[in-house]
Amino acid sequence: MKTINDLLGKTLFTWPGHISDRFTIGDSCEGIQIFGSTGSGKTSGSGRKIAKAFLKKGYGGLVLCAKPDERKSWEAYAKQTGRAKDLVVFELGKGSFNPILYEQKRFGKGAGETFNITNLIMTLNLLARNFSAAGGEEGKSEKFWDNAVKRAITRMVDLLKLSGEDLTIMNMREVIVNALTKEDVERFNDITKILEDEQAGDEDRKIAFADLRTWARQNFCLKCLLDVLSKDDLTEGQKDSSNLVKSFFFKEFAYLSERTKSIIVESFLGLIQPFESDLLRDQFSKDISDDLWPELAYEEGKIIILDFPVKEHLLAGVYAQGIYKYIFQQAMERRRVNQEENPTPCFLWVDESHLFTNPVYDSLFQSTARSSLTSTVLLTQGINSYYSVMGSLHSTAKTKSLLMNLTTKIFHASNDYDTNEYASNLIGKEFKEMASVQRKNIEVGMATLSEHLHPKVFPHELTMLEKGGEKSNGYKAEAIIFKSPGRKWSSGDTYIRCKFDQNE
Ligand SMILES: Nc1ncnc2c1ncn2[C@@H]1O[C@H](COP(=O)(O)OP(=O)(O)OP(=O)(O)O)[C@@H](O)[C@H]1O
Ligand SMILES: [Mg+2]
Repeated sequence: MKTINDLLGKTLFTWPGHISDRFTIGDSCEGIQIFGSTGSGKTSGSGRKIAKAFLKKGYGGLVLCAKPDERKSWEAYAKQTGRAKDLVVFELGKGSFNPILYEQKRFGKGAGETFNITNLIMTLNLLARNFSAAGGEEGKSEKFWDNAVKRAITRMVDLLKLSGEDLTIMNMREVIVNALTKEDVERFNDITKILEDEQAGDEDRKIAFADLRTWARQNFCLKCLLDVLSKDDLTEGQKDSSNLVKSFFFKEFAYLSERTKSIIVESFLGLIQPFESDLLRDQFSKDISDDLWPELAYEEGKIIILDFPVKEHLLAGVYAQGIYKYIFQQAMERRRVNQEENPTPCFLWVDESHLFTNPVYDSLFQSTARSSLTSTVLLTQGINSYYSVMGSLHSTAKTKSLLMNLTTKIFHASNDYDTNEYASNLIGKEFKEMASVQRKNIEVGMATLSEHLHPKVFPHELTMLEKGGEKSNGYKAEAIIFKSPGRKWSSGDTYIRCKFDQNE
């Protein structure tokens, strides 16, 4: 019987010009980062080689589209590798994927739990900040407001669940915009006092009851609260969340200062605003098309293309794809590779990856991706693209932590100082002999030879790599490949140079 290790050891390809240096399925599952300036050949050089190798080997996967031509490229790759039948294109006007419904219906531990649904919605926050280039998360004041919004979302989710209403973004919106004010709570207490007062006359009670019903018809939040109050068959766990919900809507939130309350409401409304766009309202808020379950990537080797290019759909495109990416990663993590008979490796393909970066979760996912047999391939121009979306705190550490877990790094031609320094430092230094000649006036003295530690690849050398699209070099995009840790290239060095044929 073949073991997972046999599978991980299988060759995907040998690196161009290095016939003894294999790139295996195992290598791919340890993640790949492709850097290079625009036009250097990331997509049409190394990217294309890796993508086609995945398809040839039967990988399932997910492709995010930052640019409008991404889908066309993948359709061509699939055709050339005999995989066209496995493509599933999720595009404008075709297909539906409601992430919240997925979170409730999916298999596995934690399905439908409020905590997971809240986290899902909070990932929108990170995506929105990346897109506005304000950076991922935190900073003391952001953290405070994030927590406040998160608590409000948690209580809204529980309120909808307990009341039996549909758990949708638009219902959450109705809850928060109608949340009871201090005056509302006082009015509510007055009404209930009459209803509970045994001394009150029937007529008074009738009026109070009618008043409450009319009010609840106009106020969705109150309607849900009344539904919860009327439930007498709650489990112990539901009773706990019911108490928290009641305390939140009848006390905490209602008695917040106007300013605090409006910041929470505005933050939430801002967060979900893209769901008012046609794309998210029509295709990400209803049900789940049969062919869009992310598990199909490993169950049937499907390749799901999210054809909602950010260049066309802007923030709605980022939300749509970013949230699907997050769900796809979690689905891969839940996978039990050891129990599958012929496990299918999968890939997650993210060009312009900084647009979809989740500063915390991506690293976490990547650190266990090998055991879920998933290869993440990220393409972006330089390391600064990540720094700018990793939040105001520890952005360098977070970027390096993500990169540390993407063990194959491909550096195409780059004019970015920081990326080139990073590459040079990774590749390391070596002793090189240097001759020096002492000179006194015009008299030449002794020549000495000494050893000095020098970078194996100087940063400026990355600016000189051959870019793609050049007829003069036969349309070959040059790159330096580094694999850590402990990779031994056949040359004995810590890196190799390759030229990727753009027309292969
Ligand atoms: N099949 C091909 N044959 C020849 N040239 C090509 C081919 N595909 C792309 N090119 C050219 O090669 C260059 C590199 O293109 P590519 O799209 O791979 O760059 P990139 O690094 O992905 O850039 P970006 O960051 O803008 O996405 C471009 O000038 C492009 O026009
Ligand atoms: Mg590209």
